[in-house]
Amino acid sequence: MIHLKKAPEIKKMRKVGKLAAKLLEYIAPFVEEGISTQAINDICSKWIKEHGAIAGPLNYKGFPKSICTSINDVVCHGIPKKEDLLKKGDIVNIDITLILDGYYGDTSKTFLIGEVSDEAKKLVEVTKKALTRAIMNVKPGERINIIGNTIQDYVTKYRYSVVTELGGHGIGRHFHEEPCVFHHRQKQKGVVLKEGMTFTIEPMINQGKKDVFTDPYDKWTVYTLDGLLSAQFEHTVLVTSKGAEVLTIRD
Ligand code: MF3
Ligand code: CO
Ligand code: CO
Repeated sequence: MIHLKKAPEIKKMRKVGKLAAKLLEYIAPFVEEGISTQAINDICSKWIKEHGAIAGPLNYKGFPKSICTSINDVVCHGIPKKEDLLKKGDIVNIDITLILDGYYGDTSKTFLIGEVSDEAKKLVEVTKKALTRAIMNVKPGERINIIGNTIQDYVTKYRYSVVTELGGHGIGRHFHEEPCVFHHRQKQKGVVLKEGMTFTIEPMINQGKKDVFTDPYDKWTVYTLDGLLSAQFEHTVLVTSKGAEVLTIRD
């Protein structure tokens, strides 16, 4: 069942979405060469507490940290570590999920560390545009497969591939709700988008092949199988009569 949000819930979703966006803005100057992903985690964790919120990932199905940090060939769910220092040329996705007043907001961005290769820069830019294009096509009455179709058709032009193992998700009082949001082309049209739906769109785009695997030891970190780069951007959106309202929009 897809839970449609009405005014009081929408108000809370806007509030938590805005706060998650603010944290991504706040950490930007810290995300530089030489910092460890653990240190970024700790800065976020402190900020989250100071703002009266809770980190969604911490202890979620046993996830050990407050944020996900995914470097280069890590597709998603990277675990912050004190040994993992950012270096020039890296791309790193920072995924923030907050809980405020019982509601979740989820957003992520891929940062460039110092001078990055043209190939990496292009991948990050195309991934960001793929998300923007998908968001622009969200309208009540459209089918949800418009999202995956838009993303796949766009990134395929650059010979990138869309990760199919993980997707976006409904979000609200729970981290992951219905519907599942596929980022790749779907034959089935899927559900009709309706006003009051809230879900994430979070394409993971690979430079090479779409295949991924999960770290057998930590059971979380998802890597590209070919070792090539992967980028991701994520927003939480609300379907309104006019289209998508991006709840996690940054200034
Ligand atoms: N924030 C991720 C998402 O976009 C989920 C992270 S789950 C965690 O859905 F446990 F790894 F934190
Ligand atoms: Co998400
Ligand atoms: Co996320």
